[in-house]
Amino acid sequence: MRNNPIGVFDSGAGGLNVLRECRQLLPDEKYIYLADTANMPYGTKPPEQIKRAACGCCATLFSMNCKAVVIACNTATVTAIDDIRALYSTRVVVGLEPAVKPCFRELGKKEYAVALVTEATYRSDKFARLIQTCDRRIIPVAQPFLAKLIEDNVDSIDRIEHEVFDILSPYRDAGAVVLGCSHYTYIVPLIKKFYAGGIKIYDGAAGAAARLRYCLELSAGLSQGKNGGSVRFIKTRK
Ligand code: DGL
Repeated sequence: MRNNPIGVFDSGAGGLNVLRECRQLLPDEKYIYLADTANMPYGTKPPEQIKRAACGCCATLFSMNCKAVVIACNTATVTAIDDIRALYSTRVVVGLEPAVKPCFRELGKKEYAVALVTEATYRSDKFARLIQTCDRRIIPVAQPFLAKLIEDNVDSIDRIEHEVFDILSPYRDAGAVVLGCSHYTYIVPLIKKFYAGGIKIYDGAAGAAARLRYCLELSAGLSQGKNGGSVRFIKTRK
């Protein structure tokens, strides 16, 4: 089992940012990356549809003998991780959380931050509970169209500069930005440009990779190979 692959999924290209962190930390693992493009975007769908899509991705990855699954998507994590864990209670399942806590810890006393999230994440109880711990100093901002816009422009992200600047313009004086969707990592250069470099950006991807390593260590599930690992890419079709 320990030399079996690790499954990583998202609605599209966003989870590749999480995969990169996992590969950096665990380079000798074999990965299967599943882009659920048939159901993209998750963030505008009702919870039942997101759950169905996310559970379908896990079923596919576990049927391919994955020893662990990383939900490389904040929306699927807040909406479906409890269902997934109930279905696969003996398996390693790691989710992606917006890095709200580290941001809050490091926020200056007079600073505030914005957390960009999908609509479904914004509506979820899990995210509401997380944000409540931040004393109203992290403002959640729901973005219904941003993930899809990024997905469609991922190879030429400068094309959406105008849209990103419009989203950020009410928060010109923010001290930090929390990326609450794995797609948003692609717009980090645009966020830095908007704030002329002077902004802290919090991404949950490294935390998910660290959690994966911890869980695999704990279950004696780390691969024994030293072969540089591999990635196989698959996607769903409509
Ligand atoms: N990348 C996903 C996330 O982290 C969602 C994108 C979508 O709406 O499909 O939330």
